[in-house]
Amino acid sequence: MNANLVVTGLTQKFGGLTALNDVNMEVRFGEIVGVIGPNGAGKTTLFNIITGVYQPTAGTIMLNEKKINGLKKYEITRLGFARTFQNIRLFKQMSVLDNVMMGMCCRSKASIFDNLFNTPKKRREEKLQEQKALEILETMGLLDYKYDSPASLPYGEQRRLEIARAMATDATILLLDEPAAGMNEQETADLLITVSKLRDSGYTIILIEHDMKFVMNVCDRLYVLNHGELICAGTPGEVKTNPDVINAYLGKEEEE
Ligand SMILES: Nc1ncnc2c1ncn2[C@@H]1O[C@H](COP(=O)(O)OP(=O)(O)OP(=O)(O)O)[C@@H](O)[C@H]1O
Ligand SMILES: [Mg+2]
Repeated sequence: MNANLVVTGLTQKFGGLTALNDVNMEVRFGEIVGVIGPNGAGKTTLFNIITGVYQPTAGTIMLNEKKINGLKKYEITRLGFARTFQNIRLFKQMSVLDNVMMGMCCRSKASIFDNLFNTPKKRREEKLQEQKALEILETMGLLDYKYDSPASLPYGEQRRLEIARAMATDATILLLDEPAAGMNEQETADLLITVSKLRDSGYTIILIEHDMKFVMNVCDRLYVLNHGELICAGTPGEVKTNPDVINAYLGKEEEE
């Protein structure tokens, strides 16, 4: 497989705890790849390492054969990575539109001077950014809410707004941490259609999710983590019937 993103031997230790142990993963542009596994398996930690929040204890992450671990968070954003968080992190005091425009700040070409004196260049840039933000809101089905406060949106829409804000950074690789968490069945079904459309329009999507129906229906391939170990990788069909995966999930139920 000619992968664009290649994770090799990734290990993350937090003191005595090994959150990830020797994890390998490959993603091609244009795929929807799922990362699943019981609570505490290391899924969010994987996202935190890819996006430069943590420097891994060991291992490498290569994007098109260039090492990206060791880069700063903003450098990784510039390479086209953007993420959403397991817990919704929206700016409640700002409108939906401004929340998306906030995501664009890192792309601004205006200088401090332009910003201070609100130059024509700054105003032109803002206009373009607003247009782009409106397009993103339309893609995410949120245009009607553009002047509303995020807190007033139905829950599913708040989660969609998180994705919209990630898209605003000009990302091409979206890392979604439990995008369907807390959604009802209809919202989850709608999200499935949206995520598929995003893939079809050129995004690469890596998503963490506990909703198995969603994962199995939307993902091209899956990686399964358990206690920091990669226990299985394959198509949804392969993963569903894998004995190690079944054990990991059944074991979890027995513990509870
Ligand atoms: N910054 C940190 N410091 C110490 N331990 C951490 C840190 N981040 C994560 N961990 C631990 O690493 C392990 C993996 O956590 P992680 O958040 O990656 O799990 P997860 O698979 O995302 O779980 P969930 O499904 O509950 O979100 C857990 O035991 C967690 O407590
Ligand atoms: Mg998590």
